Amino acid sequence: MKLKSLAYLLLIVGSACSKPNAEPARPSTEKTAGYPAYAWVTNLAGPATSEDSSSSLSFNVPVPVLSKEELELHLGGDIDFNRQFNGEQGLGPAFNASSCVACHARDGRGALPVLNAEDRSVRFGPNESLLLRISLETENGPIVVPGFSEQVHQRGIYSLRQDMPGIGQTDIEMHFEYSTFTYPDGSSVELRKPVFQFVGAYDEMADRDSILKDPRIRVSPRIGPPIIGLGLLDAIDDKQLIQMADPDDRNGDGIRGKVNFIDGRVGRHGWKANNPDVRTQVAAALNHDMGLTNSLFPFENILNTPLFTNWTARLSIDPSKFAPEITDAHLDRLSFYTSTLAVPKRRKVLDLDVLQGARQFEVVGCTGCHTPMLKTGTSGTIEHFKNQTIYPFSDGLLHDMGEELADHRQDHEASGRQWRTRPLWGIGLTQTINPRAGFLHDGRARTLEEAILHHGGEAAASRQKFSNLPKSARQELISFLRSL
Ligand code: HEC
Ligand code: HEC
Repeated sequence: MKLKSLAYLLLIVGSACSKPNAEPARPSTEKTAGYPAYAWVTNLAGPATSEDSSSSLSFNVPVPVLSKEELELHLGGDIDFNRQFNGEQGLGPAFNASSCVACHARDGRGALPVLNAEDRSVRFGPNESLLLRISLETENGPIVVPGFSEQVHQRGIYSLRQDMPGIGQTDIEMHFEYSTFTYPDGSSVELRKPVFQFVGAYDEMADRDSILKDPRIRVSPRIGPPIIGLGLLDAIDDKQLIQMADPDDRNGDGIRGKVNFIDGRVGRHGWKANNPDVRTQVAAALNHDMGLTNSLFPFENILNTPLFTNWTARLSIDPSKFAPEITDAHLDRLSFYTSTLAVPKRRKVLDLDVLQGARQFEVVGCTGCHTPMLKTGTSGTIEHFKNQTIYPFSDGLLHDMGEELADHRQDHEASGRQWRTRPLWGIGLTQTINPRAGFLHDGRARTLEEAILHHGGEAAASRQKFSNLPKSARQELISFLRSL
């Protein structure tokens, strides 16, 4: 038998016994020529890929490799993740939302508040899925805003503020600034950017504005991101991320890539790689976003602010008597849950427009940052995720994305123009999971096309190449993204 027909036979046999997670058979080599190798991959997360990739619950699937005990831990975490906390259970006194799922809808991403066409702005509702980080720019760099914390807590338990029950440090309003992107072929796309204003801040006096109105205040709006495949990202070794970085652009390709360091540790999670691992991220979320103290963050998030001091004094609460509101068992469960959500299998991989789109993705240089393939090492705490080949479509590094996306707020070593390359796995299902969800750190992009058109800075050349493509080729690239 000739070698080629042997290969075919193996292919047929391989596809006949359909193992879970098996890759589909590739067409013959003549047909595959010219497409990048990753164009054929359906299981982006290897054995941590799930078959379920068509429903609004496709991100809510445990990785298929868990043992019975691990699955129980995961399911316990799922309950905690969906739990609505109240004041008696430790929520607040100041917070952003009362559950994890409020910001990570069905383990996917959040959405901006709804602005009705007839209104100029919209005030934040009770459970918005984004948060604003703030700092005060000084001659010596950014500092915590006096009287506030690093994050604006727009909600409060009822007893926190007598003047505005239910509101936290301040209320927030949002409106959009619009602009137009025009392609060389004359067609155009409307882009929008959310802008935020503070109203009714607790430090506002009849004769004095809130410090939040100071022009030196820097605001970083961030939408809750999807949380699939995170354990695999924890398993990538530090040295690999450091090796991929090119902060001085030594290879001269115009793309730098920088590691964010958090107290000496390599940052991986968050829109600016501002958290080193899932467990720290979850503990921070409990504390910063919901006001739940735990062993990693034992103090209330607004400790040492006049708002907190007034509240404890008024209610005769002894602030030294606060015990952790979340046990380590809860924290571990939640961390395990958020580390073990599967990445859904790709769809329509063999459609011609999807294959062509993978080629365009390569040609216009998206892969300069959205690195298709990575290898995990021996880091992280979960054995299943070690030494795997994965396709997150991200280098995990910080890039200058230009004035377009800048928040002008430093976050550890990330500058006000730098953001971490988002993994693109699962991105095609974003609006299947949450129909209102938008793309990019502040959810401004309503479509994948808008997301690309907002790319500036190190990605400006790639956006230019994209916009120079004929419309049909641009659509192929989008089809490829939708298949991820
Ligand atoms: C108010 C909204 C909000 C709430 C509530 C919230 N999160 Fe998040 N979450 C975010 C945002 C925004 C980010 C990105 C943070 C950043 O850039 O620093 C994030 C990031 C994460 C990440 C890292 C994801 C990544 O890709 O980088 C995990 C894991 C996570 N959250 C888990 C949780 C858990 C568990 C809870 C409940 C204890 C929770 N979150 C509650 C908004 C929220
Ligand atoms: C210089 C690095 C770089 C290049 C080149 C680049 N990107 Fe990105 N991409 C990023 C970063 C960083 C973000 C996150 C930006 C943000 O959230 O503000 C991002 C975000 C995205 C998002 C939104 C992801 C999400 O979860 O909301 C999409 C879609 C995307 N990129 C597609 C592309 C495509 C397609 C190309 C090629 C035309 C491309 N990118 C080129 C760095 C890059």
